[in-house]
Amino acid sequence: MTNPVIENHKEMYYQQNNKEIFEKLKKETQQSQYLPKFHIFPESGLMNDPNGLAYFNSQYHVFFQWYPFAPVHGLKHWGYTKSDDLVHWTKQEFALIPDQEYEKNGCYSGNAIEFEEELYLFYTANYKTENGKIPKQAVAVMDKDEQVIKYSKPIISEKINGLSGELRDPFVFERAGIYYMLLGGSRFQGKSHAGFGDKGVLVVYKSKDLFHWEYLDTMDLPIDTGYMLECPSLIQIDGKDVLFVSVMGMKTGSYQFSNRFATLYLIGNLDIEGMCFQIENWDEMDAGFDFYAAQAFLGESNVPLLFAWFGCGEPEYPIEENWKHGLTFPQRISLENGNLKRYPVDNIVEQFSKEQAIDTTFFKVNSSSYHLHLDQVTSFKVGYGHDYWEFIYDKNTSKVTVSRENLQQKIDVDYGFERSAFVNMLNSVDLFVDNSFVEIYLNKGEKVFSFQVFQEKADNIWSSKGLLAGTLYY
Ligand code: FRU
Repeated sequence: MTNPVIENHKEMYYQQNNKEIFEKLKKETQQSQYLPKFHIFPESGLMNDPNGLAYFNSQYHVFFQWYPFAPVHGLKHWGYTKSDDLVHWTKQEFALIPDQEYEKNGCYSGNAIEFEEELYLFYTANYKTENGKIPKQAVAVMDKDEQVIKYSKPIISEKINGLSGELRDPFVFERAGIYYMLLGGSRFQGKSHAGFGDKGVLVVYKSKDLFHWEYLDTMDLPIDTGYMLECPSLIQIDGKDVLFVSVMGMKTGSYQFSNRFATLYLIGNLDIEGMCFQIENWDEMDAGFDFYAAQAFLGESNVPLLFAWFGCGEPEYPIEENWKHGLTFPQRISLENGNLKRYPVDNIVEQFSKEQAIDTTFFKVNSSSYHLHLDQVTSFKVGYGHDYWEFIYDKNTSKVTVSRENLQQKIDVDYGFERSAFVNMLNSVDLFVDNSFVEIYLNKGEKVFSFQVFQEKADNIWSSKGLLAGTLYY
């Protein structure tokens, strides 16, 4: 399904004269056998980070990084879709098209906040020069009729001494009547890293009116932050600050941080004027292969929610189609015993309304989207004889492993076939399969594995280790 017109073409932005190509590509996407039913995926092209997440004007608004003309990281737009229930989403539109000189290399990630009944969309205006990038941050305002108007010029446009030009992904929030902006950045300390410095840092700005911003300082986090931080996001849960960061260049642990880039959560107290985060606990967010750039926000009745990109870096996929990646399920986030937990929102879980009791070593599922809840944890396989992925539980070491080694369509092999996590007292497993999108929740979200698989047939689930006992919802 490759399209000769756009092959190797990464620099188009959506306009009148390419509308038809876009419509044609969207039709091709609909033919794919791998489309999910409940995950947000691009109607065409490549989707990455969730942006500007908000419950605004009594609806959920999701923006996202989007190159609509090919499944590659091309010139980034902000796509847009909205929903009443986090399950049914409107047709995807363009909220920000990179058609201004100051954002000539794309409208990069950012967040949204509501102010005087309008939604302010903050984003990075990506601007490359021969001597590296000039960091620019911009804002656009969406009214209640969903008209988006860009402010006439970037709100920040300056290089900061000691920092690389890679400074991006504004996350704006308010504290005591003052607005703060967190940015992901990279400081030069010794060596440099192809346009980046060698230490990932947060960069903080401050404003009284959302348009005029004053640089405060950089903030180091008390953990390994690689050579570059991206996509900061912050939320308060039960009086604690929970900070999310995506890290490039983190050292791989014995089983953690095995993806190209890592996404972390930190729980503690953000002392924003003191420029430090007093940390109580932190961890990698996801144990799977395809997860990055998590963004938290408050939903209806101020419930803390989160979406992340269902992807990471530039993985090599075995399928050639005109769409790539998507977002995770919308997840409700909470703190339990000092750890972050996340689980699909109730509205998603309720979509799987038919149920069947399971108590066997082999069964068939007659739906490409389902939820399998296991009360009794055991290893199992999903697929067919020579094309399956595996969930492996080692009770003695409390280790859980997901293996994609025995899939026919191998995915991103350079980064390995297996991912593992450790859980003390594993009591339950909730597997959500949504065609090629798989999310596995251990102990209702204490650990989560998110990953994609591309299987011709995946309707068998079997175990050679023990009984599969639980409930299938479909
Ligand atoms: C993270 C990221 C962001 C950037 C965006 C560009 O995946 O690299 O830092 O704003 O993607 O699409």
